[in-house]
Amino acid sequence: MPASSPSAPAALAAKSAQPAPAVTAGPAALAATSAPAVLVARGLAKSVATAAGQRRQLFSGVDLDVAAGDVVAITGESGVGKSTLLNILAGLDQPDAGHVAISGQPLAGLDEAATTALRCRAIGFVFQAFHVLPHLDLARNVALPLVLAGVAQAPALAAAQAMLAQLGLAGRGSDHPAVLSGGELQRVAIARALVHRPALVLADEPTGNLDPDTARRILDLLLASAADAGSAVLIVTHSDAVAQAAGRALRLAASGLAPDPRPRSLAA
Ligand SMILES: Nc1ncnc2c1ncn2[C@@H]1O[C@H](COP(=O)(O)OP(=O)(O)OP(=O)(O)O)[C@@H](O)[C@H]1O
Ligand SMILES: [Mg+2]
Repeated sequence: MPASSPSAPAALAAKSAQPAPAVTAGPAALAATSAPAVLVARGLAKSVATAAGQRRQLFSGVDLDVAAGDVVAITGESGVGKSTLLNILAGLDQPDAGHVAISGQPLAGLDEAATTALRCRAIGFVFQAFHVLPHLDLARNVALPLVLAGVAQAPALAAAQAMLAQLGLAGRGSDHPAVLSGGELQRVAIARALVHRPALVLADEPTGNLDPDTARRILDLLLASAADAGSAVLIVTHSDAVAQAAGRALRLAASGLAPDPRPRSLAA
């Protein structure tokens, strides 16, 4: 669905940002563990422009804490604003109200360059529409976050090849995105999001284009890689199987996030 997605180069451009004091957690926050919060969101609200020139409210009152090692699923009806929320959490879109902090750094205090730098260092983003760069081969696509962070080309490409192999794309590093299936592109997008071991992984329907067996395998890899890196993970999904694999499942509605009350089965 059409979220206000930015270009991948803008989303992945590099440098580093200075940490600042943490945002104080409020009582309404949907926190689960006592580990340090990697992502803190308070009171987020967002509206979008309509064709008639008015504003349509998507959601308000979104509070969220995700700590290192947490895996949180966000469900919700199509069009409720899940992709828009992920973009706000990554500093790729602006909320109408509320604030976000990543690893203690409030995004509101950063200019565009510093936001980009923080995002590049601390976040791995699996876009719903992949945003794999068509003019780069797969290894260079996956290596991009490392190269932008200053890692030399050779070790960055070696790490990218290893990540591709972990996701079932061994030996495919010199292929170009145009020859890949939708599921293969999705795995490239996941490899690129994980290769720099980010503090926070934001994944928008990361298994949406995969058959159930591959989806399960890729989800396991995503979760294992994130656990290995100690990442906090937030996954937007329509899949009950993915939501069940997460430590917490939250449902996004116009009034904010609430624990997902739906009974879940193992069926995807
Ligand atoms: N930049 C924008 N301008 C106007 N409307 C927008 C913009 N970005 C998103 N929208 C609208 O906001 C709503 C929420 O979009 P979003 O992509 O966040 O939904 P979603 O919950 O991720 O849906 P899906 O589950 O189908 O991916 C949609 O109706 C979409 O058309
Ligand atoms: Mg979406």
